[in-house]
Amino acid sequence: MGLFTQLLDRQRHGTHYADRMQRILSVCQSCGLLWHDERISFGNGLSQTRRVTDITATDHVMVTPQYEKYGLSVSPRVLKRVVGLAKQFAYALNVPSASVEVDGNIVYVRLPRAASEASDLVTFEQAWRIAPRLQPGSLLLGIDEDQHQLVLDLTSPTNVHAAVIGTTGSGKSTLMRTMILSAELAGGAQVALFDPSRGLRPLAGHPTVWRGGLFCSVDECEAGLASLTRLLGRESSGLIMVFVDEVPELVAQRPRIREHLGRLAQAGRHAGIHLVIGAQHLLSKELGPMLLRNIPVRLVGRVADRMAAYQAAGRGDVGADRLRGRGDFVVVTASQVRHFQAACASDALLRHWQQRFPPREPALPPPDPGDEAFASDARARPVTEPSVGRPHDDIPKQVLQMIARYMLAEGRDPSSNWVYRRTRELLPTGGYSRNKARRAIRLARQMASEQPTLGDNHDN
Ligand SMILES: Nc1ncnc2c1ncn2[C@@H]1O[C@H](COP(=O)(O)OP(=O)(O)O)[C@@H](O)[C@H]1O
Ligand SMILES: [Mg+2]
Repeated sequence: MGLFTQLLDRQRHGTHYADRMQRILSVCQSCGLLWHDERISFGNGLSQTRRVTDITATDHVMVTPQYEKYGLSVSPRVLKRVVGLAKQFAYALNVPSASVEVDGNIVYVRLPRAASEASDLVTFEQAWRIAPRLQPGSLLLGIDEDQHQLVLDLTSPTNVHAAVIGTTGSGKSTLMRTMILSAELAGGAQVALFDPSRGLRPLAGHPTVWRGGLFCSVDECEAGLASLTRLLGRESSGLIMVFVDEVPELVAQRPRIREHLGRLAQAGRHAGIHLVIGAQHLLSKELGPMLLRNIPVRLVGRVADRMAAYQAAGRGDVGADRLRGRGDFVVVTASQVRHFQAACASDALLRHWQQRFPPREPALPPPDPGDEAFASDARARPVTEPSVGRPHDDIPKQVLQMIARYMLAEGRDPSSNWVYRRTRELLPTGGYSRNKARRAIRLARQMASEQPTLGDNHDN
């Protein structure tokens, strides 16, 4: 099934819980559901009345970072009526809302904990420590409602790719950082990082990071994802876990990214490529049916309403519209639905990681001349074909394009150091000296100014 759990031990004794359980039973009693009288007739004509209990407290009181859950054992006779008591429970227990869930033969009354009580949300270290050994391709999510460590195995054939969905502040980037950090710690797979909001940057310096850095600008993201699609159809040379945050924003700016992601989702598994995308909503008209169809695992956080919950989870019965935010998530796979609290890598932990593995710029993949992405992208066009026939020095077009892309994305010239580093990675002949780097920057600028109207066709 691909979701593994290990137990995290949390104490849940004490009068607070006993008192609340008592109040839950009182509500049942005042509604006349706790017991009923049954008349038993004997063969000799006599009969007797017997009291039959319909609801008993179990010792299942669960405390998760954001909820308390009280387990009752309920006879089928009154089950339906107990499920309808959510409002009464909330009122009697003085909490803003409550819900009643049936789980096997136990009925749980779920109460939200006050924000002040819920301050002990799950840290990355807590969740990791429970079972600090992950298989390559498995990603730490957090802890589930039974206090187990929850791990998502994307190499399982029914999982493959995952989407993290929720409104701003629901905890998508936090959850993705936890997944990435766990992959970096576990090793055995590369992680490719794409994020225009730069929230994944603290994790971008680790040696397992594909091409050595975070792809930030939309141009970099497009080029990087295009390059990953070129691995499709080849024999897998190991696992690559591809994390792309803010997907709708990327797609809105570069529609080709939708196609790249669609192809990776469709055929990535055979090349060892697994996607984890972050999005505020999953709309087929934005992201394309191909992408949505091929992402079986949904990690759903707080969403706006029932409709959004339905779209995100791919089904309507998981209660995602009641999630509270701050890492309160539901994971939906082909075989199960599980509520969990996402583990959070603290700022201190991320700072520490960043000091150990300073974030770097990614080595941009060499543009593929046969890739129409470069030819058809309006913003890349001015630099793909210098408009005049005069040769551009001994500096390859590839380098000029790379510099021009930087200028477009950053709105300024790169430093000669930057050119040195990139050319060192890109060219077999080594990095450019300061003088040559300056010349390359000048040429790239000149090339762009020769075609000042971006996207116009100059066929001179
Ligand atoms: N798992 C979590 N545990 C604790 N706090 C969280 C968690 N996830 C999110 N938060 C809080 O919510 C804020 C927003 O989270 P973030 O991951 O940036 O959301 P999103 O990417 O969905 O907009 C964080 O700064 C943090 O304070
Ligand atoms: Mg975010």
